[in-house]
Amino acid sequence: MYMQNAEIKAMGGYLHLQLPKNKEYYPDLIKLNTSRNALEYLLEIKKYSKMYIPYFTCEVMLEPLFKLGIPYQFYHINAQLEPILDFEVGQGECLLYTNYFGLKQAAVKKLSESVNHVIIDNAQAFFSKPLPGVDTIYSCRKFFGVSDGAYLQINTDDRLTLDNDISVHRFSHLIKSIDFGIERSYADFVENEKGLVDNEIMAMSTLTQVILAGIDYEFCKNKRIENFKFLHENLSAINELTFEFPTQTAAMIYPLMISKDGLKDKLIANKIFIPTYWPNVLKWTTPDMLEFKLAKEVIYLPVDHRYDLEDMAYMLGVLKKLL
Ligand SMILES: Cc1ncc(COP(=O)(O)O)c(C=O)c1O
Repeated sequence: MYMQNAEIKAMGGYLHLQLPKNKEYYPDLIKLNTSRNALEYLLEIKKYSKMYIPYFTCEVMLEPLFKLGIPYQFYHINAQLEPILDFEVGQGECLLYTNYFGLKQAAVKKLSESVNHVIIDNAQAFFSKPLPGVDTIYSCRKFFGVSDGAYLQINTDDRLTLDNDISVHRFSHLIKSIDFGIERSYADFVENEKGLVDNEIMAMSTLTQVILAGIDYEFCKNKRIENFKFLHENLSAINELTFEFPTQTAAMIYPLMISKDGLKDKLIANKIFIPTYWPNVLKWTTPDMLEFKLAKEVIYLPVDHRYDLEDMAYMLGVLKKLL
């Protein structure tokens, strides 16, 4: 039933893994294998001659630029995490902006009204809907238990013809973690992530699509909103990030900037796993730059649908003891 290109319909036999059949969150967007490849798709169609890219982003977004031989220039962001536009985006050029942690939808709107050829990277903002006519990309596995998958909104009718990707060989960490837990499956996760590097642009695999169509998005979204709100109510007074956080946002994480040496390691020692966004930024920038501090000092606390307010209160308790 989920098999593709089967010439004769197969019936009977063993039963496959049964997943709920609901609806994808973005059924009408272009479905691809990764968001770096969604960027490649865009660049392939739009033929931009140069891209402006923030210092504060994931290095894999350079992959398509190297592949297609497109020159790029880094730009800085300010304390609001918005672009410092001390350059002009010329004719035939584009600017990539990350909707940081899903907190910058207002900036996305402003930017897309004031700058030509903006590409919005919503990899960290799954629940922020694309603005009409604005090229926007999403990465599914930052928000849900899938091994890959990306969505793309592009404001032209041109399309590339693509084969479907296959995800089953990079899926082990997702299935193992159900029996063994996240920690014992971590090595698989790292290996499977490596498998996403330098892949061709392909359409989203059937496996990823089927999983995405089974998710209860309202539940996931509401949990994130609730958890984020709780952390912000309890941490905003000590948070050195001073820009205004939207209150009803299904953010990716809660970012807490606080000057406290070794806090991240201590949290990790308490099994509260804090990611670094992004290790490459520490190589691209110097310690006097905001981007370096965002990568080095900010504690990115989980707020996702696995957790409720009791979990948030527990995490807050551990954190406060370490401060
Ligand atoms: C902001 C951001 N954009 C894009 C990507 C790339 O997404 P994908 O792995 O789906 O290509 C990442 C990280 O992987 C990211 O953190």
